[in-house]
Amino acid sequence: MTQQRRIIVANWKANLPPGEEVALAGEIATGLAAQLATTAPHVIEVLLAPSHVGLVAVTSLLRREHPAIGIGTAAQDASATEVGAHTGESPATHLVGIADAVIVGHSERRRERGESDAIVGAKLARIVAAGLRPILCLGDDLIDGGERERAAALSNQWIAALAGAAGLGVDRTALLAAGLVVAYEPVWAIGSGRPATPAIASAAAAAIRASVGSDLPILYGGSVDADGAAAFLASRHDDGGRIDGLLVGGASLSASRFLGIIVATRSAASGR
Ligand code: PGA
Repeated sequence: MTQQRRIIVANWKANLPPGEEVALAGEIATGLAAQLATTAPHVIEVLLAPSHVGLVAVTSLLRREHPAIGIGTAAQDASATEVGAHTGESPATHLVGIADAVIVGHSERRRERGESDAIVGAKLARIVAAGLRPILCLGDDLIDGGERERAAALSNQWIAALAGAAGLGVDRTALLAAGLVVAYEPVWAIGSGRPATPAIASAAAAAIRASVGSDLPILYGGSVDADGAAAFLASRHDDGGRIDGLLVGGASLSASRFLGIIVATRSAASGR
């Protein structure tokens, strides 16, 4: 049986100055090297998403000091604008050669920066046009909602983002060809210490796959820690509800907690 590829992303948000991000990346790489000494290297893809100011330094460290470990990096965002006179912006094309992927549409940006689905869609288009892989965050704020309500909310978000991307000439086929990954991140679970249940995450994953019309990779994010990680990854995988990986915020700020999540991911993968 072929092993399912897992994707584990550390989203460091704006928590650490660049020097601490570099130190944390080094600790994670060293810990991962020890794990890899006893396991197959390519079953789990690990991506670190430092702040924009730390991204180049973290990518350089990983390439220079830990090239054999295969840890990649992701940017936490990219601009909806093109290259040009846009003070303070980070165009997607400037991330080429630095980041392997770009997170887009995180709920913190939607909430704090007023990013609409149209803006998220424009960013998706820029990321794909630059040849980078988008990790699109979708999430509901329906803590007490039912499965159908959540599915409708996620579908609406996807359709609106897709329309935004189409406005810049990037369609669904192009998004999928770019390796689109969707992270299901319920707003009520992020940073709350109360993750969604694996059943909720799995139902959301099935709804997203049905809406996108593709068996694309889907991650879960929202208060993930080592003790709950395996349950998400072991959730239903025959009917579209498969969870392929995790987007980790708070627990990724500690090398030992993040490495614990990777250990749990390994055991979930080999227990199949
Ligand atoms: P959290 O963040 O793990 O701290 O809940 C997840 C995220 O926002 O990506």
